[in-house]
Amino acid sequence: MEQSQLTVDVKRLAESLRELPELVAKPVLIVVSGLPGTGKSYFCRRLAERLASIILESDAFRRVLFPSPSYSLAESGRLFKAVHRLIKELLGKGVSVILDATNLSERYREYLYSIAERLEVKLILVRIEAPASVVRERLRARLENTEESSDADWEVYQKMKHSVDKITRKHYAVDSSRDITPVLDKIMREVRR
Ligand SMILES: Nc1ncnc2c1ncn2[C@@H]1O[C@H](COP(=O)(O)OP(=O)(O)OP(=O)(O)O)[C@@H](O)[C@H]1O
Ligand SMILES: [Mg+2]
Repeated sequence: MEQSQLTVDVKRLAESLRELPELVAKPVLIVVSGLPGTGKSYFCRRLAERLASIILESDAFRRVLFPSPSYSLAESGRLFKAVHRLIKELLGKGVSVILDATNLSERYREYLYSIAERLEVKLILVRIEAPASVVRERLRARLENTEESSDADWEVYQKMKHSVDKITRKHYAVDSSRDITPVLDKIMREVRR
């Protein structure tokens, strides 16, 4: 029988992941949200140093499925369908997941809320921000570093800033131009609670 597009996509994303962490009885789902250059990927890496987890980075995944991404609605639709399915599979196995994506729209975040509810896993939401001047400088500097997975630049930041929805649920608000250690401590305490 022919596999569905979704099954094939999920398989390809799963194969692109590095080795999974040790499985746990109570995995958590951490959803990071913020505009380009606000420091999401940096924050996720710092968190993953302390939490046995896997980072799912939407930009890296996008390139797995679409080597020359168009960022069209159809492309993002297919991508996030596969990402959501993969999140469910990983949490179901006992892997804590950190989702590193802009996640700006509350309507799309709702899917993530419902995944956590259905699987009865703890959901931790984090909104990352930084002053615009800091973001601009970071994005300029990042352009010179080809190892980073994101392509978003200052123009994209300015376009996207109009589509930031407030997070309706309890969340951590992080200003990444300041020390992020205190909030990492708080999140680790919440994970262990
Ligand atoms: N708390 C921080 N302290 C120092 N440097 C930081 C911090 N947060 C981010 N940076 C630096 O700023 C740049 C942009 O951060 P990062 O790549 O994490 O942003 P992002 O939100 O993931 O962006 P994108 O949505 O485009 O992927 C990176 O070069 C990163 O090293
Ligand atoms: Mg990033």
